[in-house]
Amino acid sequence: MAKIALFVGSVRQDRHGIKVARWMSNKLEKRGHDVYFIDPLELQLPMLDRMYKEMTNPPEKLRDLREKIKNADGYLPVTPEYNHSTSAALKNTLDYFLEEYFFKPSAIVSYSVGQFGGINAAQHLRQIFAELGAPSISSSLQISRVQETFDNDGKLLATDYDKKANRFLDEFEWYMEAFSNQRKKGTPY
Ligand SMILES: Cc1cc2nc3c(=O)[nH]c(=O)nc-3n(C[C@H](O)[C@H](O)[C@H](O)COP(=O)(O)O)c2cc1C
Repeated sequence: MAKIALFVGSVRQDRHGIKVARWMSNKLEKRGHDVYFIDPLELQLPMLDRMYKEMTNPPEKLRDLREKIKNADGYLPVTPEYNHSTSAALKNTLDYFLEEYFFKPSAIVSYSVGQFGGINAAQHLRQIFAELGAPSISSSLQISRVQETFDNDGKLLATDYDKKANRFLDEFEWYMEAFSNQRKKGTPY
């Protein structure tokens, strides 16, 4: 099926987001997709100095990351909400690349400990992915009160999210297939 780059948004040592990211990753794999699980905590990228394309000798981990982003058919960021926006860690990871994202769709998952599920972060990410050339699908998935939604082992407790997530992923798959078919005919640049 599709190759999907899933971005973890939080690098905090007590991060709730890793449970959301693993849950989404499992769902995508069960649907037959290949998931590139991109975790800024593991990557430990420095704050951006040169973009990938400006580097003369990029390190191995950045070359590997580039291949994943370039090969992906779609992007699924899992963002926390920090002061009504996405995280610096996610933004920093995304900013290393540009053309690699072009003409592929994104699908935004957000979460927070409050009732709004990180909707402000999701709205900012829509703008960011539009600029990256990977416009977001119409739906986004918000997880409210993330601390109560999963147990400590990452098991989903609020099962109504399963249905919402499945519908969201149905839509994402539709867009990935549509964009993929169109890319085969060529892209404007
Ligand atoms: C710097 C910072 C800013 C935050 N700002 C918001 C916010 O604007 N809205 C919100 O709903 N939650 C906010 N929170 C609470 C987060 O929803 C909560 O800490 C969540 O667990 C963050 O995800 P993480 O645990 O994966 O890092 C903020 C948390 C931090 C650390």
